[in-house]
Amino acid sequence: MENKVFTVAIIGAGSRGADIYGRLLMQLPEKFKIVALCDPRQNRLDSFGAEFGVSECERYTDENTFFEKKRADVLVIATLDSDHVRQCLKAFELGYDVLLEKPITEHREECEQLLAAQKKYGRKAFVCHVLRYAPAFVKAGELLDSGAIGRLVSIDTVENITYWHYAHSYVRGNWRNRKIAAPIILAKCSHDLDLLQHYAKSKCKSLSSVGDLTYFTAENAPANAAKRCADCQLLETCPYSAKRIYVERWHERGCPTDKWPYNIINSAPTTEEKLYEAIKNGPYGRCVYHCDNNVPDHQIVTMTFENGVKATLNMMTFSKEAGRRMNFYGTLGEIILDEEKGIVEMRIFGGENVTYSINELIKETSGYGHGGGDYVLINELYDILMGHTTQGTSLEESVESHLMGICAEESRLNGGKLIYVHK
Ligand SMILES: NC(=O)c1ccc[n+]([C@@H]2O[C@H](COP(=O)([O-])OP(=O)(O)OC[C@H]3O[C@@H](n4cnc5c(N)ncnc54)[C@H](O)[C@@H]3O)[C@@H](O)[C@H]2O)c1
Repeated sequence: MENKVFTVAIIGAGSRGADIYGRLLMQLPEKFKIVALCDPRQNRLDSFGAEFGVSECERYTDENTFFEKKRADVLVIATLDSDHVRQCLKAFELGYDVLLEKPITEHREECEQLLAAQKKYGRKAFVCHVLRYAPAFVKAGELLDSGAIGRLVSIDTVENITYWHYAHSYVRGNWRNRKIAAPIILAKCSHDLDLLQHYAKSKCKSLSSVGDLTYFTAENAPANAAKRCADCQLLETCPYSAKRIYVERWHERGCPTDKWPYNIINSAPTTEEKLYEAIKNGPYGRCVYHCDNNVPDHQIVTMTFENGVKATLNMMTFSKEAGRRMNFYGTLGEIILDEEKGIVEMRIFGGENVTYSINELIKETSGYGHGGGDYVLINELYDILMGHTTQGTSLEESVESHLMGICAEESRLNGGKLIYVHK
């Protein structure tokens, strides 16, 4: 009877690394023990170090010191996008198995470099494509695999980001500018690209893509808009006002003390005073028309897979409600996954519709992010690491979907030119 407890180190004790994965790992003490943390923010190290029981000498503010030697069996890499490849290469070299946040990289050569290093050092590596583990998306895959809708012909996907989430992350936040973040099609839609190749059961052969930044620019600012919401006459009426997005929504959600995005704009525990302080002085109080953002606010990708399946992906900012909608079209029927309506529905031609409620499907994972996917990923990680299942989102597969995103950005920058994924 195996009874292995994996020791875990986390680099990047931010929202994903500590608040989500760290806390989920702590729920499984018979499988995982967090033994080291690395993050330049001392306050995060102190609070999560204490919460996770990591000794003070195993809390590192400097990644070079952290990487001087191997400190655990598994390394969770949850730093920002541009750190992933550098840290993952160091981790392979030291002999870690890795759980790596997406996006991996925006460069084809780095994808190849990582795969070569993984092979050279013989390590396991999984990418956090959490939706693959989310019960609704698993159900859609099972229905497809049942063959009930016949041969899959095409998949039509919309990712509704919502106006306020886009403003938070892609106008005011960490993913707003190409100088500091990966292309949005990778940063926001790498899960969709991963799901599409997973459901198509094929590599993507070619694609084209269009999209741009149409709205969040100085030319679209109302004449009387100030540079910061706190100083603006439109504070109470603009839908993008930081007061509406952070303070009013926070009240509508019951004033949570430790929830995204409020814990991003100022440290938890969240209070109304801290939110106002962040809006007055911090980056999240800037006018959405006067930020240093340059990433597209909408993008469409059209894909052909090697087995002939076609797909479209529409990344959309201008929606009120969040959620993905995927329509699978087969020769004998359709499957519709609609997160906003909360259903997965199979419609067989000439037959009855069968509808599954997403709330019913997610059951005990309810309340966890990404439709329960965050919870299931960490709960299945043990079996994946032990080699008890081959279901994990491997680095190799994830590289394939990253190549799709890299090619989509290349196409977008070239006016929608058709790009072959494997040249
Ligand atoms: N899988 C998903 O669905 C999903 C969802 C959201 C974000 N992400 C990805 O997860 C990653 C982290 O995002 P987040 O929202 O947690 O951001 P975050 O800003 O909350 O966390 C990042 C943390 O990394 C720390 N950090 C910065 N430089 C570091 C370094 N050199 N060494 C160690 N730590 C360092 C920061 O201080 C911060 O605490 C990003 O790459 C993001 O794209 C993935």
